[in-house]
Amino acid sequence: MIKKGELYYPTEEFKKKAWVNDPKIYEEASKDPVKFWEKLAKELFWFKPWKKGFAHKPPYFKWFVGGKLNITENIFQKADKNKVALIWEPEPVNEKSKVFTYSELFKEVCRCANYLKKIGVKKGDRVGIYLPMIPEVVIAMLACARIGAVHSVVFSAFSPNALKVRLQDTGAKVLITADSYYRRGQIMNLIKNAQEGIKETKVKKVVLVRRSGENPWQKENDSCKPAVMDAEDMQFILYTSGSTGKPKGCVHTCGGYAVQALWTGKWIFDFHDKDVFWCTSDPGWVTGHTYTIYSPLLNGIATLMFEGVPDFPTPDRWAQIIEKHGVTIFYTAPTAIRMFEKYGEDIIKKHGFEKLRLLGTVGEPIDESAWLWYYKNVGKENCPIVDTWWQTETGGILITSLPGVGPFKPAFAGLPFPGVKADVKDGNLVILPPFAPGLLRGIYKNPKKYLETYWSQYGNKVYFTSDGAAINGNGLIRVIGRVDDVIKVAGHRISTGEMESAINKHPDISECAVVGIPDAIKGEAPIAFIVFKDGKSREQMKKEAVDYILRGIGPIALPKEVYLVEDLPKTRSGKIMRRILRKLFIKEELGDLSTLANPESVDKIKKLI
Ligand code: WTA
Repeated sequence: MIKKGELYYPTEEFKKKAWVNDPKIYEEASKDPVKFWEKLAKELFWFKPWKKGFAHKPPYFKWFVGGKLNITENIFQKADKNKVALIWEPEPVNEKSKVFTYSELFKEVCRCANYLKKIGVKKGDRVGIYLPMIPEVVIAMLACARIGAVHSVVFSAFSPNALKVRLQDTGAKVLITADSYYRRGQIMNLIKNAQEGIKETKVKKVVLVRRSGENPWQKENDSCKPAVMDAEDMQFILYTSGSTGKPKGCVHTCGGYAVQALWTGKWIFDFHDKDVFWCTSDPGWVTGHTYTIYSPLLNGIATLMFEGVPDFPTPDRWAQIIEKHGVTIFYTAPTAIRMFEKYGEDIIKKHGFEKLRLLGTVGEPIDESAWLWYYKNVGKENCPIVDTWWQTETGGILITSLPGVGPFKPAFAGLPFPGVKADVKDGNLVILPPFAPGLLRGIYKNPKKYLETYWSQYGNKVYFTSDGAAINGNGLIRVIGRVDDVIKVAGHRISTGEMESAINKHPDISECAVVGIPDAIKGEAPIAFIVFKDGKSREQMKKEAVDYILRGIGPIALPKEVYLVEDLPKTRSGKIMRRILRKLFIKEELGDLSTLANPESVDKIKKLI
């Protein structure tokens, strides 16, 4: 890239080949964003065109009203049949990778779709998917989309209880899961968790995928007609954490999501015919939905999925994979970048990164030093870095500089995507009408929560993101972090409220508070403060509290520390002052404690830490 002052720009060579290289696109889009998105949407294949681009009855809105399409038809009809669609790299180094061409993947999707139909799945039915990073997760999701069933993927490392809560909310009657998968050399028994998780749910049929064997749909017919979906029909539900204990089911629709997935990928990752894209996210998270699966496939390029973690069995596994499969675009979280940095540059020197031409980050703020390290060592000062801001709710990326336009500034996501209007009000990032086609339409079965969470802070025409942000003189946006009780641990979205309610289920715990503290690698890490009733030893109590979190949520929410305390600092009205606990830990100025009902609790906790 070319550095001018504190800003970076793409090279002429990159610009020349990029889909977008002229900043005029922003002007064109902002003149009439609806018209702009309509123009983009026309590139998709529609069974029937829409009547109205955007309809707004605040806070509710619709896109492409009356249009009919199917996302899988948009993937498979256009794609070059013999081109590679999916490359799968298993965790065991001695196991062979699998490669699916577009035509092979399509056949598998149709077989699975026919099987789902056979067991009674109909258009509009919710289907739970509890699968690890194996090709079948892609096949199962696309099969649902093929027949108009609504997939709801649950991250495979979530606990049985977390699975249960989500299945209960969707009312799914079918769950697709697998026998096992590998994690850091261990065989994980997924079906055992699944069997426990379906108790007390409506699931009547479990479709069991064998990681290394025949699948239940193997003998089905390999062609299946696409369901004709209304643009505003549900495409999927994906649960995410909010401030309260209960996860929210974000509802995404068929038309808007497809448009946003197609175009954000094409312009932000500059997908071209020969690209091999590696997005490291698990399909259990939104990044995996949109950028491991839908976006690269809608763009007809090869997407790579890796079963394991980037540093197993050796710290250079990620670099080996980039070299082995000739990855051209690499998209990961800042946590991974900080981990690569910790392992050192020698790893990179050993592997060929010549094919890499573009890098991306997502999921948490990236600090300047990690950005520069990524830029110098992985990108060899050549690759643009797209720092992409978005959320489960937005369905696709909304803020980032475009790689062929720039400018890039470390720690700044950049400009809103063409056609998106963002603003910062009192330090809070908001999105203004007409929002974006992929923005969520609701929280499943919870309209009240939808209004409260997103449409009440600045009136019902402004989408509230729950992120703090700042805009610099060039209009570049820097996202600072959540302003609610959500923390990002290694890029994973976790609710401290959800952790607290998991701990509070323990009969011997009278109350608790969980807060996020800065962590050098993971960005943030949770710590828990617990008040317990007498009876058990302190060590035992700590162990049990951790166990309740593991059982309630899963290993991603493992607290860094558990403190047993006599009392938690509270206001006179009884509100726990989590902010004070956090400040105590990071040794920040505590400010005025006179409003506390029990200021003495603060001193005691201070001694403990
Ligand atoms: C954070 C992940 C800074 C943010 C796609 C947001 C970011 C939350 C960035 C959503 C970024 C995501 N810079 N922060 N580039 N991208 N975030 O729903 O706090 O898992 O609200 O979606 O991640 O997390 P979620």
